[in-house]
Amino acid sequence: MKYIAHGSGGDADCMTLADGPAPTPGPGQILIEVVCAGVNRPDVLQRSGRYPPPADASPVLGLEVAGRVAALGAGVTEWKVGAGVTALAPGGGYAEYCVAAASHALPIPAGMDFAMAAALPETWFTVWANLVDLGRLAPGERLLVHGGSSGIGLVAIQLAKHLGVECFVTVGNEEKAAFCLGAGAAHAINYRTADFAEEVKRITEGTGVDVILDMVGAPYLQRNLASLRRDGRLVYVAFLEGSKGEADLMPVMLKRLTITGSTMRPRTQAEKTEIRDALAMNIWPALARGELLPHLFARFPLARAAEAHRLMESSRHIGKIVLDVQP
Ligand SMILES: NC(=O)c1ccc[n+]([C@@H]2O[C@H](COP(=O)([O-])OP(=O)(O)OC[C@H]3O[C@@H](n4cnc5c(N)ncnc54)[C@H](OP(=O)(O)O)[C@@H]3O)[C@@H](O)[C@H]2O)c1
Repeated sequence: MKYIAHGSGGDADCMTLADGPAPTPGPGQILIEVVCAGVNRPDVLQRSGRYPPPADASPVLGLEVAGRVAALGAGVTEWKVGAGVTALAPGGGYAEYCVAAASHALPIPAGMDFAMAAALPETWFTVWANLVDLGRLAPGERLLVHGGSSGIGLVAIQLAKHLGVECFVTVGNEEKAAFCLGAGAAHAINYRTADFAEEVKRITEGTGVDVILDMVGAPYLQRNLASLRRDGRLVYVAFLEGSKGEADLMPVMLKRLTITGSTMRPRTQAEKTEIRDALAMNIWPALARGELLPHLFARFPLARAAEAHRLMESSRHIGKIVLDVQP
């Protein structure tokens, strides 16, 4: 099969189209003939050597795919060969064939093509696990999402809208602000021209938000703590600008705040299955009704994966970038 190799890692140009054997599905796994693969920031980190894959995962990049089931591993009964699926992959998505746990796959929502479906798993699994399971986000609350125009951010906005949560976002320019407002955010703050904590304070008349989803890290910690109301939850999914810093933690005690976070990839198979089941029940029907939609910013053929990564590293994109694995 054709796949994207990245050798010992480096900048985007280290990625080349290569030939190699297709993987075989083990017990409980399915082999997927990949039509499209989603691109995520963790792929960029893995490619550059800053996010090594777990020991038992494919070294090939790619955490989400959509395609057709090509073969079943031992014991798999919930899928049939030929079924259209989208799946959270343990790695190996930038390839013509990819294996995934049968219990980490979902049907292609009605009305979606493979490209849209490939853009769903990584962001929805991550946002659900962090905002609903860890962040205990509930209807009627207020949410602040840093990086609102990212793949993760736009899903967080949609989840907020779906749950009846008032959503604030930070973004790096006015075009992204307008897009997030159109996608359902109630307030978009350009962090280059305004202090987000001051804006949250002003808009909420000093009361703050209940949950913050942060991918920025230490430089935002103090202002995040200031922006949370009593019993607020700060949830980390990344540290784009560093995880080390100093902060006055007094607000954690005075406001009974919770600081938490998680990464999807090292979670157990069973935990990912639970998240898949929750998404199947709570989100996939809304996707099939067209109430929730991924936003595809750009598509590239598999052989041009380097361009996809350069675009992501430029942060010019809004929403998702997808690779077309089949012509
Ligand atoms: N924990 C997990 O399991 C998990 C899973 C998937 C992804 N992630 C992480 O989640 C993040 C988003 O992933 P993605 O694939 O959606 O990537 P992405 O689309 O490239 O998003 C990164 C975003 O960060 C924003 N940003 C950078 N500096 C910022 C700042 N100082 N303040 C506010 N926003 C800032 C950028 O937007 P601006 O141009 O507006 O700055 C950009 O939209 C990445 O860091 C990724 O590693 C974590």
